[in-house]
Amino acid sequence: MQRTKIKEILQNDKCDYQVNVKGWVRSFRNNQFIALNDGSCIGNLQIVIGLDADEQLIKGINNGASISVDGMVIASQGKGQKVEIKADSVTILGECDPEKFPLQLKNRPSLEYLREIAHLRFRTNTFGAVFRVRHTLAYAIHKFFNDRGFVYLHTPIVTASDAEGAGEMFKVSTLPFDNPPRNEDGTINFKEDFFGRATNLTVSGQLEAELGAMAFSEVYTFGPTFRAENSNTARHLAEFWMIEPEVAFNDIYDNMDLAEDLLKFVISYALEHNREDLDFLATRLADEEKQKPMNERSELGLIEKLEFVLNNKFERITYTEAIDILIDSPAYKKKKFQYDVKWGIDMQSEHERYLVEKHFKKPVIVTGYPKEIKAFYMRQNDDGKTVAAMDILAPGIGEIVGGSQREERLDKLTQRMEEMHIPTEEMYWYLDTRRFGGVPHAGFGLGFERMVLFVTGMTNIRDVIPFPRTPKNAEF
Ligand code: 4AD
Ligand code: MG
Repeated sequence: MQRTKIKEILQNDKCDYQVNVKGWVRSFRNNQFIALNDGSCIGNLQIVIGLDADEQLIKGINNGASISVDGMVIASQGKGQKVEIKADSVTILGECDPEKFPLQLKNRPSLEYLREIAHLRFRTNTFGAVFRVRHTLAYAIHKFFNDRGFVYLHTPIVTASDAEGAGEMFKVSTLPFDNPPRNEDGTINFKEDFFGRATNLTVSGQLEAELGAMAFSEVYTFGPTFRAENSNTARHLAEFWMIEPEVAFNDIYDNMDLAEDLLKFVISYALEHNREDLDFLATRLADEEKQKPMNERSELGLIEKLEFVLNNKFERITYTEAIDILIDSPAYKKKKFQYDVKWGIDMQSEHERYLVEKHFKKPVIVTGYPKEIKAFYMRQNDDGKTVAAMDILAPGIGEIVGGSQREERLDKLTQRMEEMHIPTEEMYWYLDTRRFGGVPHAGFGLGFERMVLFVTGMTNIRDVIPFPRTPKNAEF
């Protein structure tokens, strides 16, 4: 008999039909009631087995074991579910030793512990919900762009350029570490390397996306990016996924509108299609909040927070206004900030979170950052000091989006690249877009895991990517 998904059985109230279900045992009570989960939804299906069941079989039905069940869907006698399955036959597909199964050994395992057994954590309610929501968000992002006629461009993972000019790259090489070929001056001879030059893992697909935008008008990338920055925080990964739309003829204001529309669409899509998972995560978060002192608890629950974001326009301010607000703040006056505030600083997470969580209490788009703290490709404003950059700051997260209008004027771009020691000759292909029919254009990068954090209410970025890569950690 063909397998029916548990989600399908739980979703309709139909009874009295024969099915086959397969999944993993979540619990087994009174040698009679199995809670079965197959990952299709958060809910478990109750399987009732006969009291005359084989003793050997009963011994095999342990938490974590996988089973196949044939039986009849009937109206449930018990509380908590509308339907259940009266089993005709149960087969053990894969045994699971309860003495050794890590999820069985700990009662309510902590998120930290589950990170150590990330190969098994999908089988918990929390991670099941998180990764179903992650899937939905990815799908919604593609849907959003597809519905608007964007072309999905696959930009390279291995590249010779440093798109952000920050030098935080992982090298890609097949040269022997212990004895690489050398030039006469002692430097490594990358001409002998696999690609005939020094290469690295990409930090961003933006530069190549810009090339695409100069032909398709609107493109986006959605792929893995890599940063060798040694930031061991709850917001940083060494390998993360980024969505980068790039749109010809857009200015910084169009760019802000596009980013706000994208975030809102994706949130509403998840609320509509993953409600059960989000309700579960909301309860989880509310329980976690109860552990905190009163004054540190968030005012809104997860669902209310998401609905609030949907129903309110993002605040839009300039960097200069942001700095003024911070300097005027009680937090600054009472010396509550660890890092100093003055015009020109790269705002720290504490500053960003003050703006969104304490001052505006909603997402904030900050524009017009000092050119010194931003990348070479951002369009220079007429004041000579700032660039047409935009960061979106989200409650509980800080920076979730970073983007800008691009410098389309060849002379200004070349000058800025030279000032910042970006090799203009090597990057002739990037500059060519400004030589051959260049147009004003703009784009941004949305950090996918930060988006998943925001929507799921999880607090550590390691808990929203299946197998996190962070400093000193590449397990699994
Ligand atoms: O602000 P960033 O560095 O911007 C860029 O890479 C541009 N090329 C984007 C563009 O204009 N096309 O990164 C964009 C976003 C950040 O706002 C943040 O959400 C996320 O990527 N991000 C990270 N997420 C997880 N771990 C890290 N180490 C991250 N670094 C950036
Ligand atoms: Mg940024």
